Amino acid sequence: MKIKVSASILSADFSCLKEEIKKVESAGVDMLHIDVMDGHFVPNITIGPVVIKDIRKITRLPLDVHLMIKNPWYFVDDFIKAGSDMITVHIETVSKSSLRAIGKKLKSKGIKMGIALNPSTSLDKIKDVLNLVDLVLVMSVNPGFSGQSFISSVIPKIKRLRCIFKGDIAVDGGINDKVAPFLIRAGANILASASYLFGAKDKKLAIKRLKDAE
Ligand code: DX5
Ligand code: ZN
Repeated sequence: MKIKVSASILSADFSCLKEEIKKVESAGVDMLHIDVMDGHFVPNITIGPVVIKDIRKITRLPLDVHLMIKNPWYFVDDFIKAGSDMITVHIETVSKSSLRAIGKKLKSKGIKMGIALNPSTSLDKIKDVLNLVDLVLVMSVNPGFSGQSFISSVIPKIKRLRCIFKGDIAVDGGINDKVAPFLIRAGANILASASYLFGAKDKKLAIKRLKDAE
């Protein structure tokens, strides 16, 4: 599978977000990863649909929206209207019926649906919803902040997931060129990165190093 890089703007300088986005866009990222946090599901608060709506105006990159919020069902319409191309919700925050309802809504709008799981959440929790989603986002840090260290115990989880799931497998948290080869070999095809990418002087090279990591 072709390896894609999703630039997580959480490590961007928000005082010049447009320039930051243009930098990663021209360096060749495949999509923008937008971390939405509510201060309930995770111990941090970030941005919401208002900001996403404006990001939509300044880039053609697909917007990969990672919802780390309680009750995503209440807000999913707002994220659709804001211009998301892909919306990922956490299995820890939804019931099966709510996930089905979100899936139905996204499908009717042509938006991709992802399911995320925390490092300590077992694959068993998502096994019977894999048929509903386009993507699984495997968290390799506990969600809340960028700049944390990669948790290597998720690698066997990715391998097991790849045996039973043919869709996109994204990994998020603590990714750099050192861990990328292990992720790709395990079966991941989308790498989300904040601090490694935004901290890199040569972003083109940083992206190439992630993509060619195998
Ligand atoms: C963590 C977020 C990640 C984070 C990644 O809660 O979901 O997307 O921004 O940051 P790095 O790549 O610095 O670990
Ligand atoms: Zn994320």
